[in-house]
Amino acid sequence: MTDRYAVVGNPVAHSLSPEIHAAFARETGADMEYTRLFAPLDKFVETIGAFRTGGGRGANITLPFKLEAWELATRRSERAEQALAVNTLRFDADGIFGDNTDGAGLIRDIEINRAFSLAGKRVLLLGAGGAARGVLLPLIGCKPASIVIANRTAEKAQALALHFSRWGACSARPFNDLGAEGYDLVINATAASVTGALPPLPAGVFRAGALAYDMMYGEKARPFMAFALAKGAAACADGLGMLVEQAAESFHLWRQVRPQTAPVIALLRARD
Ligand code: ATR
Repeated sequence: MTDRYAVVGNPVAHSLSPEIHAAFARETGADMEYTRLFAPLDKFVETIGAFRTGGGRGANITLPFKLEAWELATRRSERAEQALAVNTLRFDADGIFGDNTDGAGLIRDIEINRAFSLAGKRVLLLGAGGAARGVLLPLIGCKPASIVIANRTAEKAQALALHFSRWGACSARPFNDLGAEGYDLVINATAASVTGALPPLPAGVFRAGALAYDMMYGEKARPFMAFALAKGAAACADGLGMLVEQAAESFHLWRQVRPQTAPVIALLRARD
């Protein structure tokens, strides 16, 4: 029988996930279908329940339901537990397993696709919302020398740094005091790009050879990438690779097979 999966969101029409998973299914020979599932804002739990009853095996969860998915899961991975957000559900016989594959997707894109090793590096994370929180534990797991969090609302960066500092070197700093040493990797996890706004980064923030990474992709990532290159970053990347890698991580959780990601990234990039 064909296994059913879906991406659940509101809105969800723009999601590239069905295309990505269809490519994974073709490549691995999986007998599965993957669709978009729109959930009314007050009907997330009901929507998931109906999908599961109808034979759904798992789901990806996108905005604005990642916290509700976290609450719905009866078991969670540690990375989902600390992210306070779930982007992948797997429906098991004995309950619902919740995972968060965003951080792993980011790291695979940076370390494998970009061949940029995080160990010993100085990392600056911009933003302290759900997107930033979701990637912190996996980032710390790569043993960077330090992670500094900067956010428009400083208290949120401080709270996040305090929580995650139990796992590794993680601190908060205001934008106007990011230090003179600079950073090897600057990750934009703010929603500022949606409106074309740019973070107030001081001169000298990018060290020699630094990579600037925007977790958004396409048009939304372009202003930050251009800004970073103008400020001295050696290279920049958008989040398209992260999107495909987080999908691959979800696919692996569901089907115990890791699909090839490079051809799918190339396919989507060709249309970008
Ligand atoms: P997400 O789940 O995408 O992270 P969020 O939880 O609403 O969404 O967080 C948005 C992040 O982008 C926050 O860090 C926010 O800063 P504040 O905590 O100060 O609100 C940041 N952000 C949004 N718009 C911004 C802007 N124009 N300039 C700088 N930061 C911005």
